[in-house]
Amino acid sequence: MTLDTPMSSELPNPLDRDAIRQMRRSYGEAGLHESALHTNPLEQFSRWLAEAALNPVIVEANAMVLSTIEANQNGDIAPASRTVLLKDVDGECFTFYTNYQSAKGRQIRFNPHVALLFPWYAMERQVIVKGSAVKVAQEVTDQYFASRPWGSQIGAWASSQSDELASREVLEARYQEFAERYPEGSSVPTPPHWGGFAVTPRSIEFWQGRYSRLHDRIIFSRDEQSPSGWEIGRLYP
Ligand SMILES: Cc1cc2nc3c(=O)[nH]c(=O)nc-3n(C[C@H](O)[C@H](O)[C@H](O)COP(=O)(O)O)c2cc1C
Repeated sequence: MTLDTPMSSELPNPLDRDAIRQMRRSYGEAGLHESALHTNPLEQFSRWLAEAALNPVIVEANAMVLSTIEANQNGDIAPASRTVLLKDVDGECFTFYTNYQSAKGRQIRFNPHVALLFPWYAMERQVIVKGSAVKVAQEVTDQYFASRPWGSQIGAWASSQSDELASREVLEARYQEFAERYPEGSSVPTPPHWGGFAVTPRSIEFWQGRYSRLHDRIIFSRDEQSPSGWEIGRLYP
């Protein structure tokens, strides 16, 4: 099938619908018990991230689906999702970097509530973080930007992320322009439109697949009254 072949229901389906319905794996015995978890869910998250990073089957263990809220042209409020890379996690927040003028950057300015989803399917695990995002301090962004490879630094200057692009050639010409302005080996300043967002969680859910769809779901919710600062609960799968 060539790319310009019109889609039609008559064309053979590469994976028939019955086959999709039949797709399921049975999940393992290894469970998740409240008593075995760290009292700070961000520390617990870091343990799981380390395990995912060591798992040879998982690519980009720090990739997460970031969901934001947008007000579309009709004035409707709607969700929007895309993948970004987690670049830092400490006892307080999750940090990623992006273009502040991108769609996601504008959406966070409109409404800072976000969700982060880490899909570690090969480990029968998922973590969902809900919280709110704020820009990180300029010196934090500068320090991270300086650590990036030169090509990525130039790419950040060249990309007007999420804006309509007339052609690939336009992007490559912009890249060339900035590559000449900041030659390899020189110190490339952080673009004013680029930086980090830190997400302070309100809740963090750990999901572990179990047999017969009796999965474990442990959720930590922010609770200022509790000594750990978190209340721990369990959800039906
Ligand atoms: C594995 C992967 C990692 C990505 N990491 C980032 C990232 O860290 N920051 C970023 O701005 N975009 C990243 N992207 C691209 C985004 O998914 C998205 O296309 C881009 O940020 C524009 O999103 P927006 O138009 O919704 O703002 C990544 C994409 C993939 C597939």
